[in-house]
Amino acid sequence: MSKLANKIGFFDSGLGGLTILKDVLDRQPNYNYVYLGDNARVPYGEKSPETIYNYTREAADFLFAAGCNLIIIACNTASAQALHRLQQEYLPQHYPERRILGVIRPLAEAIANDKNIKTVGVIGTKATIGSRAYEIELHKLNPELKVEQLATPLLVPLIEEGWADKPETKMILKKYLRPLKNKKITALILGCTHYPFLYPLIKRLSGQRLIVPPPGAIVAASLENYLARHPELNLRPVEKPEYLYYTTDDPKLFRVLGEKFLKQAITKLEKVKITP
Ligand code: DGL
Repeated sequence: MSKLANKIGFFDSGLGGLTILKDVLDRQPNYNYVYLGDNARVPYGEKSPETIYNYTREAADFLFAAGCNLIIIACNTASAQALHRLQQEYLPQHYPERRILGVIRPLAEAIANDKNIKTVGVIGTKATIGSRAYEIELHKLNPELKVEQLATPLLVPLIEEGWADKPETKMILKKYLRPLKNKKITALILGCTHYPFLYPLIKRLSGQRLIVPPPGAIVAASLENYLARHPELNLRPVEKPEYLYYTTDDPKLFRVLGEKFLKQAITKLEKVKITP
């Protein structure tokens, strides 16, 4: 364990994972974090399971080489399509001392722990919904839950365009939410890194009673709990923490939108190649 550096890695297909990292930095600012966005190959949401797995494995290799003992896959698509295979096949063979976690389990737990929720909607990319990863995880925790899933692929490009508040986005979201409302969902999982930007609009369209767990806050709390239970990973708070950002595409573009997602300045940023 001694050869491992004291860093926590975050991976996303692009910028979206910064919505998760933002809450983690708010909650536990004193750790060293390394964020990798595979902006050159985003979006993952429309790609095949094999491609998503291979890309995520390359990202994990990069973050482990950068000294991370633990990686959080902040991307729902990569969590849905690659996490279990990495945990079960790749890690034991190549990095038996290191760990990878995803975002699906903590969100599923937040829903399953609330016994008032009987029917839950899940929205996400085509690959996330196609994997049924949320449904599987939710049913492991509560087999009685009714899970209504819906791919909502138009939302990521609208948010990246800065259109979260535009009437066109409202119209599309309304259309997406209608069948879920008809199924009488009482909670909705935002199964994609970008969707927290639509939180106010979703609340306005669906009524305040709809339970919409905030993904970043839930993952941040779950990470804090995990770190407390796993001292063997040797991850410790430090006095002067370092936040390093890597992108596989143009760093200027990453910084402009990234700072909006993160709501703070990105100072240490570098373009990297993660393909072998
Ligand atoms: N980060 C992805 C997710 O959470 C959304 C963007 C993409 O399709 O790569 O599913």
